[in-house]
Amino acid sequence: MIEIVKYRPQFREDIINICFKTGYMGRSASMYFKDPYLFGLLFCLYYVDYEPENCFIAVENHQQAVGYILGSLDSEDQDQAFRKLILPKIIRRLFFSTIWRHPSTFTTVLHFRKIFSNSPPVPNERDIQKMYPAHLHIDILDFYQRRGTGSKLLKKFENHLCEHNIEGVHLGTSSYNKKAIQFYYKYGFELLYQSPEGFGMWPNAPKARALIFGKKLHKHNNNEEINSKID
Ligand SMILES: CC(C)(COP(=O)(O)OP(=O)(O)OC[C@H]1O[C@@H](n2cnc3c(N)ncnc32)[C@H](O)[C@@H]1OP(=O)(O)O)[C@@H](O)C(=O)NCCC(=O)NCCS
Repeated sequence: MIEIVKYRPQFREDIINICFKTGYMGRSASMYFKDPYLFGLLFCLYYVDYEPENCFIAVENHQQAVGYILGSLDSEDQDQAFRKLILPKIIRRLFFSTIWRHPSTFTTVLHFRKIFSNSPPVPNERDIQKMYPAHLHIDILDFYQRRGTGSKLLKKFENHLCEHNIEGVHLGTSSYNKKAIQFYYKYGFELLYQSPEGFGMWPNAPKARALIFGKKLHKHNNNEEINSKID
């Protein structure tokens, strides 16, 4: 049985594993990225280590985490905290370990730099952060997908945002991630930004576009909207 629980440190390794196994536009990153811990630093460890109260986990039989939704209520603050708390760890890992053990992964991360330095700039980024201040990441292991777990995690997270009076939430994905796109449309997200071709995250997928989706939240009707679509 799968239940949704608040994050606990016992799930930290599972979270890195899920992130790595789903992080290549919805698929395993292992073909293109050889350092799972660095991948965790880049994409999930900030949330579980520094904002665990905004992280919810799908757990099977009270033991193994099989999916998660992680996020921040205030993306501007999160951006600054990420730079201060995680970036130094990323740089240390890159130069003391990855560059020697996995040179191709080091090169891949240099390409990610394009993303972290926001090139090309998202023209409406400030508006997005104002109107949709929270953001999220949701990932579920392959075997557990399409069973309603993503829907439950999203409902939990949106409730959490509503309890904190957050007006909107956004997220980034790739034009190649068709199932995620279907998922977000189903739950009322709209496309806010689409990069030109070639500005997806991965160097080996030159035609992918980066997409940003957003959703305005209404205190009272969010639950009803998701509930009516779950069953
Ligand atoms: C996207 C994701 C979170 C959806 O979670 P899920 O538990 O599989 O989704 P649910 O079972 O709750 O499905 C809800 C709806 O999403 C859409 N959806 C989910 N998987 C889909 C798929 N493979 N193809 C098409 N639509 C899909 C459908 O509209 C579905 O409703 P339906 O089953 O009534 O048709 C999950 O597929 C996943 O983790 N993918 C890998 C990682 C990833 O891509 N994360 C997002 C990164 S931005």
